[in-house]
Amino acid sequence: MKDYSKEELISKHKEYLMPSVHTSFSEPLCVEKGVGEYLFDIDGRKYLDFYTGIMVVVSGHCNEKITKAATEQLGKIQHTSAFFINRPIVELAEKLAEITPGKLKKSFFVNSGSEAVEGAVHLAQVQTNRDTVIGLQGGYHGKTLLARTLTSGSVWRIGSTNVPNIRYTQNAYCYRCHFNATPKNCDMACAKYLEEIIQTQTPGEIACVVAETIQGVGGLITPPEDYFKVLAEITRKYGGLLIIDEVQAGFGRTGGKMFAIEHYGVDPDIMAMAKGIANGFPLGAFIADEKVASCTDNPSVSTFGGNPVSCAAAIANIEYIQENNILENSERMGKVFREKFLQLKEKYDIIGDVRGRGLFWGLELVKDRKTKEPAWEEAGKMMQLCKDEGLIIGRSGGYFHVLRLGPPLNITKDKVEEGIKIIDNAFSKLK
Ligand SMILES: Cc1ncc(COP(=O)(O)O)c(C=O)c1O
Repeated sequence: MKDYSKEELISKHKEYLMPSVHTSFSEPLCVEKGVGEYLFDIDGRKYLDFYTGIMVVVSGHCNEKITKAATEQLGKIQHTSAFFINRPIVELAEKLAEITPGKLKKSFFVNSGSEAVEGAVHLAQVQTNRDTVIGLQGGYHGKTLLARTLTSGSVWRIGSTNVPNIRYTQNAYCYRCHFNATPKNCDMACAKYLEEIIQTQTPGEIACVVAETIQGVGGLITPPEDYFKVLAEITRKYGGLLIIDEVQAGFGRTGGKMFAIEHYGVDPDIMAMAKGIANGFPLGAFIADEKVASCTDNPSVSTFGGNPVSCAAAIANIEYIQENNILENSERMGKVFREKFLQLKEKYDIIGDVRGRGLFWGLELVKDRKTKEPAWEEAGKMMQLCKDEGLIIGRSGGYFHVLRLGPPLNITKDKVEEGIKIIDNAFSKLK
């Protein structure tokens, strides 16, 4: 590998990669290595990582157990294609059947979250012999054509051709309720709206509803307790399957449970996952119960999906989560975050709303608490101010005005407090 300097790396990155991402940093971060909850840049500077590569590295950077499992697998077999059986893919599928909710049992492996959602929808369409798919407003499902069409948000759809027969229903954005209601008096109007969409915008029957449990890219939209019960009931009333997209919220991110939907007491018919599954190794999957998975005319094959090295990493990652009380830690540290963030909200008017659970948090920034005008420039400044003090955070929401935070799930209380202190200081400097 060439020994490029930081300046050369930045300039060659600009020259040879498509200009698709913007980080809000005055100078791009060139990452050299990661250790646990820390990232190190090319100059050797250390950063506490509260963004974990977009909510991926649940068990910490270069986790020893996972590195060992992947390294051992590298020396055995690195690729087989889906036509041949290998040990890791079988063991991982068995493990997913064990840890996913309800009757979910049979998995199909792919390489990313987009493909997992795309495959899940295809399965639902084949199984129901219907086309119509309903997503949630504010949802993000990826960059392939169907996943991008399902994604609701103009910023992600620039210049795109859309897949037909996709409609959208209301998400549970209580802070900006579409119905001007409050969680106490809304009677789940947002969830019930699905029925109106089905009756007015579809043939009256649907293939599926696709929903993230907590919308990460949408701005940490965290639905109230009954939202998914109502959504599932209406979906099934019209013969549809409920697909839950756990790509960002899964694998302990929301604390206490392996998957976020378990907090809502609803069993999905199909679940999509990726990101946290293998702690950073490329892998995605969708899983269904035996009946839904039984349509043998689903003609799918993935050349790289279920790569043995990624699967070996995923098995080690899940074992690490189970053996080290990571779900419990994520829940406990989540309570620390909630308390501290609510204190920051008291202190800084720019924080309009605090939401999330476990180690998945959003601070919605507004210029004025009455008008709720999104403070997206300030969100960008906060990212830079935090980086200057050695903390990496992200942002999301319709205007990129929601600070998005998600450290590794094995983080300790002193590191949580260290990060919050930096965020507090950054708010105090924000102009
Ligand atoms: C909920 C959700 N679904 C799907 C995706 C797409 O995943 P990928 O970028 O791995 O294709 C993402 C990515 O952020 C996501 O957050």
